[in-house]
Amino acid sequence: MVPQRVMTQTRPNPDTNPTHERARPVRDMPLILVLNGPNLNMLGVREPEIYGRHTLEDIRALCESAGARLGFSIDFRQSNHEGELVEWIQQARGAVAGLVINAAAYTHTSVALHDALKLLNVPILEVHLSNPKTREPFRHISYIEPLAAAVFAGQGPKGYACLLYTSPSPRDGLLSRMPSSA
Ligand code: DQA
Repeated sequence: MVPQRVMTQTRPNPDTNPTHERARPVRDMPLILVLNGPNLNMLGVREPEIYGRHTLEDIRALCESAGARLGFSIDFRQSNHEGELVEWIQQARGAVAGLVINAAAYTHTSVALHDALKLLNVPILEVHLSNPKTREPFRHISYIEPLAAAVFAGQGPKGYACLLYTSPSPRDGLLSRMPSSA
C-alpha cells in the first residue's frame, strides 16, 4: 500500500542539478484508493447494453486525470477475489485520504467487505456504472451504502470522476467536507 501522502518529484534538471542525483520534491498529494470488484476487468465486452463500451483502463485514466487535476494521487485496483479486496481495505487504514469503491456483485453479498470498511475513518464513496436499485431485486441491497458518505449510480464511468470532481480542489472538495475526512 502506498503511504497516504505521496511525494512527487520533478525530473532532475540538468541546468540546476548537473549530477541528476537529487530530484526536488515539489508537492505531496493525498492518496485516494479506487477499488473495483469482480468482473469489472471485463468492462467493454461485458453486457455493454448495461455497462457500456468503456474498459476499466478507460476508467482508470479518467480517475487519474481527475485526480491529477484536483491534487489527488490515485491508487486504482481491481480484484475478482473478496479476500484480496478485504486485505486492500485493511492496508488502506491510516494510509489513504478516501476510498472510492465499486464492489460490483460483492456490493450485494459481502458482510466481509462491510466489516472491513468499518475499519476506515476516511470517507467511503460508493460508485456503480448502472443503477442497481432499478435492476433485479437481488441488487437492491448494498452492504456498502450504510457506510458510504456518497453514492453515485447509473452515470457510467463519469460517476467515478464525479466523486472527485465535485469541487475544484481537495481543500474545498467533497472529500474534505466529509466529517470523517482525514
Ligand atoms: C455494478 C452493479 C452490480 O450489481 C453488478 O454486480 C456489477 C456492476 C455496476 O457498476 O453497475 O458487477 O456494480
